[in-house]
Amino acid sequence: MIQGSLDVFEKVMDLAKRRGFIWPTSECYGAVAGFIDYGPLGAMMKRRVENIWREFYVIREGHYEIECPTIAQEAVFIASGHVKGFSDKMCQCPHCKEYLRADHVAEAGNIHNASTMKNEDLAAAITSYICPACNEVLGNVAVFNFNLMFSTTIGPGSQRIGYLRPETAQGMFVDFSRLLRFYRDKLPFGAVQIGKSYRNEISPRQGMIRLREFTQAEAEIFVHPDEKNHHPSFKRYADYSMPLLTYIQQQNCEDPVEITMREAVDRGIIANEYVAYYVALTHDLLVTIGIKPERLRFRQHLPDERAHYATDCWDAEVFSPRFGWVETVGIADRTDYDLKAHSGQSGTPMTVFIQYEEPKKTERRRIIPNMSVLGKQYRVKAKSVFAALEHATPTPDGADVEVDGEKIHIPADLFEVRDEVIEVRGEEIVPHVIEPSYGIDRMCYAVLEQAYDEDIADGESRTVMRLSPNIAPVQVAVFPLMNRDGLDTLAKDIITSFHARGILAEYDDSGAIGRRYRRQDEIGTPFAITVDYESKENNTVTLRSRDTMKQVRIAITDLPGTVDALVKGNIPFASLTP
Ligand code: GAP
Repeated sequence: MIQGSLDVFEKVMDLAKRRGFIWPTSECYGAVAGFIDYGPLGAMMKRRVENIWREFYVIREGHYEIECPTIAQEAVFIASGHVKGFSDKMCQCPHCKEYLRADHVAEAGNIHNASTMKNEDLAAAITSYICPACNEVLGNVAVFNFNLMFSTTIGPGSQRIGYLRPETAQGMFVDFSRLLRFYRDKLPFGAVQIGKSYRNEISPRQGMIRLREFTQAEAEIFVHPDEKNHHPSFKRYADYSMPLLTYIQQQNCEDPVEITMREAVDRGIIANEYVAYYVALTHDLLVTIGIKPERLRFRQHLPDERAHYATDCWDAEVFSPRFGWVETVGIADRTDYDLKAHSGQSGTPMTVFIQYEEPKKTERRRIIPNMSVLGKQYRVKAKSVFAALEHATPTPDGADVEVDGEKIHIPADLFEVRDEVIEVRGEEIVPHVIEPSYGIDRMCYAVLEQAYDEDIADGESRTVMRLSPNIAPVQVAVFPLMNRDGLDTLAKDIITSFHARGILAEYDDSGAIGRRYRRQDEIGTPFAITVDYESKENNTVTLRSRDTMKQVRIAITDLPGTVDALVKGNIPFASLTP
């Protein structure tokens, strides 16, 4: 139960700053909006979230991780469409001169999907709205598109334009040919990347939710377009159910409905098994890091919200009392858009040869030019004439071709038409891409916000971060009752045994035991051990659960294995006998 006049965002951010989770960046010079530092506990927690993501995507799904530079040359983002179209709608308050997200101003006034409106219509719609920075009525303002990419130049004095990547995804697309070879030319395969992305957000005022530098964890799964309804492991999630908010329900102002993935695919609610599989996996992953299922929903993009090339797109949204439903993960079927775009821009084929089970016989017409006559006649143009002739449609009279804008008639006696039956072993196809794209900072904010709690312990109010043990920065605390009589040495030996097992254990011998518990509760340490005088006699200690505050006595030799199992969620604390 959270009390007091501050909302949970303010309380969580205050705790996060005070205890070393999140800090404003370069604070001594005045922090810059849209950038944050992860302090010692925040960085550890973030790493744990990323590693759970890796357990799902790299270890279990077998999608290997790659690491590309965060700066790429202009051609990459011309092909991806970011140079031309990666922009937000911006206006400037005529009173305080603050730059504002025009669509956010409109949405705060209950205009839906303002980001898809035309700039003139949006400008007209917000004239009577209040500027969120100075509270004056905006009046007539111009709305224009602002490209969100940070640009730079590559090399000294160089004219070579580069951009800080606005998503990690493009690295996987441009590496497609090498990835294909790595996966021995077989579909489906996936590649993932966790790293920084950069967007010059217009007015980032939402803490960790909207940053100018943030961490994404993205997977690109390359699949045969005809196989999207045959995910090889679909049965793992076929019966998995969750609330889905379809675009039709949104249009009819209806609530989400709980539904299994099998039913969602069979009823055409989710486009195919691949998208449904990653929707379910995402739900599974978010719950694993501690997101409460009742604060999680999956919302389908509305047809005018979806990228023009995407056939289906779902956002995992997490509810925040401060920010409402926050998009935290996007899962999209991006079709063959990215590979075709990069193949066109770079001139590198990005296809996969799919061998038929049995070779197919097909008829082929070949036009064979009389090289010696045509060669003499057309000299420098001869090569182009031969090439054009190959694709011509001959008549009994001859064939008409066009070379460099010139129409040329080739008489029928200067080429031979040969109809043949050939065996075709397979075909080149451009794979489709299914992309689950996670915002790690938003996940971190969500778990912090949901973990924050206040209750009463030993007659005193306590602040407790009920972080899932698998992401808690410090996994166990060890307290000697007194820092003498060998209790301190025994506690330090226990710490060493935890470290040997890769468990982060913190030693604390200062102050009353109650105060030490409170310090650890506040940073979310799920388990605490007290070494007392009985420990010296029978080699046991007390092990306390942060959430229930219950304690059990346990043999010192069992500690590393038991705490490891508790942290991983393999056993519940309640299964330990007091
Ligand atoms: N490759 C697809 C892509 O980048 P996106 O919806 O723009 O899709 C994916 O971004 C995720 O990245 C979002 O769901 C969100 O969690 C995170 N994200 C995007 N912009 C962000 C920002 N400015 N600050 C923090 N996280 C952001």
